[in-house]
Amino acid sequence: MRQKFVVGNWKLNKTIAEALALVTELKNQLGAVKGVQIGVAPTFVALPSVAKRLEGSNIATCAQNTHWEASGAWTGELSAPLLAEAGASWVIVGHSERRQHFGDTNETVGKKAVATIAAGLGAIVCVGETLAERDGNRTLPIVDDQLAGALGGIAAAATPKLVIAYEPVWAIGTGRTATPGQAQEVHAHIRKRLAERYGQVIADGIRIQYGGSVKPSNAESLMAERDIDGALVGGASLEAADFIAIVKAARPS
Ligand code: 13P
Repeated sequence: MRQKFVVGNWKLNKTIAEALALVTELKNQLGAVKGVQIGVAPTFVALPSVAKRLEGSNIATCAQNTHWEASGAWTGELSAPLLAEAGASWVIVGHSERRQHFGDTNETVGKKAVATIAAGLGAIVCVGETLAERDGNRTLPIVDDQLAGALGGIAAAATPKLVIAYEPVWAIGTGRTATPGQAQEVHAHIRKRLAERYGQVIADGIRIQYGGSVKPSNAESLMAERDIDGALVGGASLEAADFIAIVKAARPS
């Protein structure tokens, strides 16, 4: 059985004070939840204080991006060892907003995933097609290319630190969620590819999150699908009540 993993990706939202207020509420209200792994991904500047506030809790601190080098002449960047030192335990890599606006490619996403795992952190690798790609029946080949780029450097032994997030770009921030059936189809395909690469036993252990307009009202039906192992939540993770409801929807029945 794969334990469900629900992560709130706060993107560029929340002041440091607001971030601390939100995680304090989450910590208080989610402390008793069992059987679900939980994470929040604040901005880089809020990350150290959030991680400190979450110490000893059942909520992991995640980063939203990393550079692939540990140090060097990379003005404005952050590295996975630094994120680990600041208290992160997971890093989201290859989010579609990074791919769209900041030049992340399948190749650099692969390097980021390798650097993340080398630093002892878990990597949440995002894949997903645009609307034009879906309409052009190219969803599965696009996801295949993204997976091949991201996983090329990740050996079977490193897969306990690997999570995949399927986030169709057309469902992000649009209120237009993939139906459970549409998402499940792609998740099953991703697991098939993972099995080809790592074998069925390992593939059966890798969590595949869904992301894209996850809300309290649709979380349960999405996560009821057999290959949907949690959620990567944007907008709805900014409100404590909504995020808490989504985490509770992931509890084992
Ligand atoms: P929304 O939940 O706001 O659609 O964002 C999804 C997302 O991009 C999470 O990484």
